[in-house]
Amino acid sequence: MEDVGRPVRVQSLAQNRISTVPPQYIQPPDNRPKSSSTAAASTSSHSRTIPLIDLLHFDHFHSQSIRREIGRACREWGAFHVINHGVPIRLLKDMRSVGLSFFNDCDIPEKLKYSCDPNFAASEGYGTRMLVNQSDDTVLDWRDYFDHHTFPLSRRNPLRWPHYPPNYRQVIEEYSDHMKVLAEELLDLISESLGAKSSCIKEAVGEIYQNITVSYYPPCPQPELTLGLQDHSDMGAITLLIQDDTGGLQVYKDGEWVTVQPLSDAIVVILADQTEIITNGAYRSAQHRAITNANKARLSVATFHDPAKTRKISPALELIGGESSLPQYGEVVYGDYVTSWYTKGPEGKRNIDALLL
Ligand code: OGA
Ligand code: NI
Repeated sequence: MEDVGRPVRVQSLAQNRISTVPPQYIQPPDNRPKSSSTAAASTSSHSRTIPLIDLLHFDHFHSQSIRREIGRACREWGAFHVINHGVPIRLLKDMRSVGLSFFNDCDIPEKLKYSCDPNFAASEGYGTRMLVNQSDDTVLDWRDYFDHHTFPLSRRNPLRWPHYPPNYRQVIEEYSDHMKVLAEELLDLISESLGAKSSCIKEAVGEIYQNITVSYYPPCPQPELTLGLQDHSDMGAITLLIQDDTGGLQVYKDGEWVTVQPLSDAIVVILADQTEIITNGAYRSAQHRAITNANKARLSVATFHDPAKTRKISPALELIGGESSLPQYGEVVYGDYVTSWYTKGPEGKRNIDALLL
């Protein structure tokens, strides 16, 4: 059923109305979601969740308190919601709607015209599995996706993106531009919240490489055995994510998986591994995953902001020094980090933990 060049898309499995998932999708017992978290993820009654930060009054008068809130959210969670972020709400809706339309309204052969190259990590296009050279015992995610290369502009080629719906490519371009502006503003605020100069993290990252991944999680007959996306932290600097109202994103905090409730106008900010290195561990990348559900397909759009593959990343000089803070992480060439991630698999935060001195 599967050949190397063309892995089976999860959506085509789900369309066959199977009642049990194929064995490759069954997670080992320790990784399975607890039944309480699969049942009605979005209406969970205990209300522990990521912080919500309102950027509306971001002016000289209020900015100090916003920086304090951001610092606290980064220190305690590594993930938070922002509202009044300056990105038009209409654009968030359009992005979700064109993404869903590609998955729902184009048939599988049409989608396969845009297949990514499964032999290269993070290659652009329509795909389903993350790792390269995976072995027979690799557990698969219950997810299909479309990955777009959007920054620097030299990587951006809308001809490689879906031509249906007709406004798809225009929405991606507009969305990409807005997300980059917001990501840079947030990196400034995050730097300032550490008492560093606002450009501190941006300078360490250098030119921003941005990828946009639209993930589609079909309904799953056995959500208690599967994951939409396995436990991981993102590799780059900062991720901005929106989701639909189905819910399924979870963040690991104090030994527990906490569901991120869907907020339609908000954007989820996720600190990624290079920010952890640059801040010398003052802020840790968030460990997160996506669970599946039996009844509804789910859509999310993650926008990753990463350094160039050739960039050397190490703790920012401004944030080390003095006896209290020796460097905690060794220097890494970002491209080597990415290669190791895609070869070994994320397994939570194992890749960054390997850099700890
Ligand atoms: C990711 C990711 C979560 C989600 O794409 O890296 O964490 O909810 N996605 O789709
Ligand atoms: Ni992620």
